[in-house]
Amino acid sequence: MRDAAKINKTIIMSPPTHFDIEYSINPWMNLDNKVDKKAALFQWQNLVDLYKNLGLNIKLIPASKGVPDLVFTTDHGVWIRDTFYLSNFKYPERQKEQSIALDWYKSQKIKVQHTPSYCFMEGGDVIHHEGIIFVGYGFRTSHETIEYLHNTTRLEVVALELIDESFYHLDTCFLPINRDTAFYYPPAFSSSSIKALKSHFDMLLPVTTHEADGFACNSVKINNHIICQPNPTFEQKLLDLDLIPISLEMSQFNKSGGGIHCLSQIITT
Ligand code: ARG
Repeated sequence: MRDAAKINKTIIMSPPTHFDIEYSINPWMNLDNKVDKKAALFQWQNLVDLYKNLGLNIKLIPASKGVPDLVFTTDHGVWIRDTFYLSNFKYPERQKEQSIALDWYKSQKIKVQHTPSYCFMEGGDVIHHEGIIFVGYGFRTSHETIEYLHNTTRLEVVALELIDESFYHLDTCFLPINRDTAFYYPPAFSSSSIKALKSHFDMLLPVTTHEADGFACNSVKINNHIICQPNPTFEQKLLDLDLIPISLEMSQFNKSGGGIHCLSQIITT
């Protein structure tokens, strides 16, 4: 399990001390479906322990009251080259996380790029893969963000329109594996976005509704391991690609519409 140590990946996480369903900003969040705090801590700690066993470095943004979604550190921004591109959240409920993230990244001496006020951008919508930036827009991130990211990074930016509100962030319906292969949930994308995805991946593999609802696309790839939620058909698809699934239960975070990828801001250096 130690073979990941050679790549320099740090995962930024935040403990679920104050994680709960205190508002509803996506169809998964139901105010009556409260979080079992003990179970959430157990599930989150299992993920931390697994990353450590895989040789990864973990850094923690301290928990803070009044920001129950702070655990979803992926949403705070996106790491591109040597810079952290800070999100500009759409919903006021999550905007409070911005200054916490900003202070924390600055305290780590990480260069931070601010999103202009005319763009909404949420880290869960921005996937930097093999030198290309894939951006989901429509629910949380604005279309203007595509041009902004292209102009500031000079990288290719692929715009993907999201159309199913249950799959409101790109990392809930798209999982790139390598240069040629990616998983996606077709009903989450407009037809032109599916065309764009097909033109970038020779092997564009659909996940089923059952797999997508089980957060299959919200998995994390660490070398040839895929950390995913338990799902026999999806795990078989991974095995068929010579990948090694390691499954972890994340039911408490699913209540908020989040899963493994949302909890794991990955910084590659
Ligand atoms: N409750 C959070 C929200 O609606 C969940 C965020 C999940 N994050 C993600 N990258 N998919 O914003």
